[in-house]
Amino acid sequence: MRILLVGGGGREHALAWILARYGHVLTFTDPNPGFLDLGTFVGGTPLDAAAGVDLVVIGPEAPLAAGLVDQLVARGIPAFGPSAAAARLESSKVYTKAFALRHGLPTAASRVLAAGEPFVAERPWVVKLDGLAGGKGVWVCATADETDAAVTQARELRPGAEILLEEVLVGPEVSVLGLSDGARVVPLLPARDHKRRFDGDVGPNTGGMGAVAPVAILPDDLAVCHDVLRRAVAGMASEGTPFRGVLYGGFMLTPEGPKLLEFNVRFGDPECQPLMMLLDEDLAPWLLGSALGALPGSALRWREGAACCVVVAAEGYPERGANAEIEALPADREDLVVFHAGTTRVAGQVRATGGRVLGVVGRGADLDSARANAYAGVAHVRFSGASWRTDIGAAP
Ligand code: AMP
Ligand code: GLY
Repeated sequence: MRILLVGGGGREHALAWILARYGHVLTFTDPNPGFLDLGTFVGGTPLDAAAGVDLVVIGPEAPLAAGLVDQLVARGIPAFGPSAAAARLESSKVYTKAFALRHGLPTAASRVLAAGEPFVAERPWVVKLDGLAGGKGVWVCATADETDAAVTQARELRPGAEILLEEVLVGPEVSVLGLSDGARVVPLLPARDHKRRFDGDVGPNTGGMGAVAPVAILPDDLAVCHDVLRRAVAGMASEGTPFRGVLYGGFMLTPEGPKLLEFNVRFGDPECQPLMMLLDEDLAPWLLGSALGALPGSALRWREGAACCVVVAAEGYPERGANAEIEALPADREDLVVFHAGTTRVAGQVRATGGRVLGVVGRGADLDSARANAYAGVAHVRFSGASWRTDIGAAP
């Protein structure tokens, strides 16, 4: 298949890696040094670059929310991902909360603050900005005073926007993703990312400092998560905005059962990286089937064992990105692959230029050996200021 991949981060490198393994001819609009051996960088706008391909695969949320799939479909080009209307499940937290309530999906108690509505917290809340915020629009507050400060900060960041307040839930988190063709949902292995910057889950929230799959989760809890994805897809169809693409449910496993924290309308980054290391078949028929409204009738086939992705970030991430030459990287092997996320090729040299620079993924017979492989790879990474968490995949 001729496939155009839109997006240039670690998630897209992992998608390109698995698609190239199955012989697909790849083109890219975004530069990523990791793409170099996997296909051809064509640049230009995705609409221009899509001429003549069999499928366009869109990695990040912003082009989905902006309606790229709608534009491609209008030109008769199959595109993997939701329409702009269906992408609201990620781009508007207020819309999604109302949707979850309409369809009886388990989620935290909440209230919506209108722009300028007077508010003084009487207890701690989680404060969420409406709209895409690149992982930076959520404040988990410990006190009423912190909540007031977060509301003030949110209003400064985006004056005029609504704010969602949510009850503070406690428990381990799990990311459950499912491919959908608008009617059916085929789940991927449950995964977990590590959002906080530093070991022990402290420090600021980030895009994700690492991820593992599969996650040990009670079968009953997993069934609830799968049911939420299925009911969401059924709900979207019944409301006239069918969801095609990959639906990502972020859940907290509370004492009362799993509760939905958020939907994303794309593969998680970095969850995608360990998931692609574990996938044991060609992803392309699934992506095309989703785009055309007819997923294959089977379940996805996975390798035995586990995979662990450790993100090597810039020292100053999430405030600042890197700017350093990458002096050494481990060689890829069957059980170790390095995905590029924030790197740039300058005059033949690869430089660390982003916040999250690399995702080093190890695979093994179990999570311990996957972790060991990933960290053995990380030990070979050399660039000035390279920094990573040492507890990705360790028992929570
Ligand atoms: P979100 O973008 O909505 O997933 O929020 C980002 C992170 O904030 C989540 O992964 C959780 O760690 C945390 N979070 C979100 N909602 C809640 C909640 N209601 N209670 C506790 N933590 C939350
Ligand atoms: N890893 C979380 C996300 O992709 O939003």
